[in-house]
Amino acid sequence: MLPVTERLYLRPWRADDCDTVVTMYAKPQVMQWIPGGVWDRDKTSRFVTRMIEAHERRDVCIYPVVLKESATIVGHCGLNHLEGGAEIEIAYLVDDRFWRRGFATEIAGAVLHEAFHATNVDRIVAVAFPENLRSVAVMERIGMHPIGVARHFGADVVKYEITRSRRGAVE
Ligand SMILES: CC(C)(COP(=O)(O)OP(=O)(O)OC[C@H]1O[C@@H](n2cnc3c(N)ncnc32)[C@H](O)[C@@H]1OP(=O)(O)O)[C@@H](O)C(=O)NCCC(=O)NCCS
Repeated sequence: MLPVTERLYLRPWRADDCDTVVTMYAKPQVMQWIPGGVWDRDKTSRFVTRMIEAHERRDVCIYPVVLKESATIVGHCGLNHLEGGAEIEIAYLVDDRFWRRGFATEIAGAVLHEAFHATNVDRIVAVAFPENLRSVAVMERIGMHPIGVARHFGADVVKYEITRSRRGAVE
């Protein structure tokens, strides 16, 4: 089941969501710390298509984050294959119109909960450029642990992890 929280929920992408989120992914302030930077319409469309396909084959997936009160898409969150490899990362992004309202922490915490209760994923990582302090703060607020600096996307990034066993010990 896709996570539902007090204020937010995840749902599968629809092809026409592309028109809604294209502005968000084109904002430099939102995409500053995303490898490769801003997306144009074509890249946004390819991402939405890829995520629809991932959901259909029941692979890990990044979903739109929807605000219950208005049905507005406020960002994205979910699980992803880190750089297409074996490690599973948690991804989150919030439109800057909705920063500092606790949305990223709320939905990312629910994604971790769902992953460890409803799937057989045992370890989830998160990476961020060290300057992306807001992202690192989210990792810490959702109970992830720093495991040092790692090389991803051709850069040094901070890496955090959470494991099923370690999470089990604190829940
Ligand atoms: C990373 C990102 C999602 C963090 O967003 P954020 O708004 O700082 O994080 P949260 O949604 O968890 O909100 C936390 C803030 O909301 C505040 N807040 C306000 N109301 C709140 C509430 N009801 N509940 C919880 N926190 C609340 C908190 O105090 C905190 O503010 P502070 O940073 O001033 O202490 C956002 O900066 C972003 O999308 N960046 C671009 C994409 C990106 O970098 N993604 C990560 C790639 S590694």
